[in-house]
Amino acid sequence: MKILVATEKPFAKLAVDGIREIVEDAGFELCLLEKYTDVSELYLAVADVDALIVRSDKVTKEVIDAAKNLKIVVRAGAGFDNLDLAACTARNIVAMNTPGQNSNAVAELAIGMMIYMFRNCFNPGTGAELKGKKLGIHAYGNVGRLVANIAKGFGMLVYAFDPFIPADKIKADGVTPLDSVEKLYSTSHFISLHIPATEETKKSIGYHLLSKMPKGGCLVNTARKEVINEDELLKVMEERADLKYCTDIAPTNAEEMKSKFTTRFFATPKKMGAETAEANINAGLAAATQIVKFLKKGDKTFQVN
Ligand code: 3PG
Repeated sequence: MKILVATEKPFAKLAVDGIREIVEDAGFELCLLEKYTDVSELYLAVADVDALIVRSDKVTKEVIDAAKNLKIVVRAGAGFDNLDLAACTARNIVAMNTPGQNSNAVAELAIGMMIYMFRNCFNPGTGAELKGKKLGIHAYGNVGRLVANIAKGFGMLVYAFDPFIPADKIKADGVTPLDSVEKLYSTSHFISLHIPATEETKKSIGYHLLSKMPKGGCLVNTARKEVINEDELLKVMEERADLKYCTDIAPTNAEEMKSKFTTRFFATPKKMGAETAEANINAGLAAATQIVKFLKKGDKTFQVN
């Protein structure tokens, strides 16, 4: 059986070594496609593989069609909006993610972004501290919970909105649950976004919510670019000279935002939330282990389709 790791943005070497060990110990063969620049390379590489590990690489219907022997695809990470689940299901291919495995790296970046934005993007001048500020966690999943925990160490007052998590569970972490998304935005100096990109959430963060933020408010996006209504974000930042936006996924209009808002806007050059050796190892090894368990025992834990 052949297991392909196809990563436009490769894992750290240690992670690849660990994946290889798991795959070969199980008696399978590891194939690698790293830093590919054209999707045609992916079509070729998947042609005879039984299993596929990807990061944010797009597994489209065309990729699935090209992978005649594919039985399982694992997104080594949390968000699986890059997988065409319908195409997988139509071919009886199991799709999985590796929830929680890279969350700490993303959470640390979100906190780092808050400090960066409140310290004038590390330019000279008077900044502000995180201590005593109100932080709103928008979606209290694995990353949101970790951001909350770190933020409490900074002395921040942490709030969360997540209609899918019982209020008691949020309260037990010393976080104040809020019952409406509007309340979260009107309460919080910082919003840390952790919603997935789905048909319901796409473009859902726009004028209506951002205009409610208190003076000097800062939106931190380590989730997905698609959840932002970029035109409305631009409009509200033009109207409110106090608002800030920091993102790990550059908006389509990044150049315009940068020139208009200078130190009120920052986007990383390439998504780096999960770019730590630890996150690569955790997510990569989990993906390989899940594939071996599925191929050997039919274990479908973490299936998402
Ligand atoms: C995730 O959903 O796990 C993160 O967005 C990480 O994505 P990456 O593996 O492309 O860095």
